[in-house]
Amino acid sequence: MINVKRLMLPKVPPNIIDEVHNSIRDGINRAWEGDRAQYKLDQYSWIPGNSAVQSWCSENICPDIYFGIQVITANLPIHRDIETEVKFNYVIDSGGDLPETSFYTDEHELIESIVLQPHIWHILNVHKFHDVKNVTPGKTRISIVGRITP
Ligand SMILES: [Fe+2]
Repeated sequence: MINVKRLMLPKVPPNIIDEVHNSIRDGINRAWEGDRAQYKLDQYSWIPGNSAVQSWCSENICPDIYFGIQVITANLPIHRDIETEVKFNYVIDSGGDLPETSFYTDEHELIESIVLQPHIWHILNVHKFHDVKNVTPGKTRISIVGRITP
């Protein structure tokens, strides 16, 4: 199975980007537990998208999945997401010049690394071990994410 694939889906318009920032500001139901991943860290949070974000993503990207906002403030260690097989990811703010997403074998040997370009939809195989490096201290990496569960 592939690890990461670029999708030819519509760009998120500026008014919905504003609603993403509003969702982060309002921050209701903020989850700190690392996306049901194998770690608990405060450099990761997942915030539900507000109704404007949900309806735009539902109409333009995929009607069947729930979209949230992922906020990362530092590098993430190698982990795999639990209860999520594949994740839609649309980077809004990179959180640095060249933050890199890498995928690993079960033995933690590097398979491939990619710098996800902002404002492009990707799907990621988050059931594979992966990490994020080169997040610049003091910067924030923000993505819209949608989970596909088994
Ligand atoms: Fe992850």
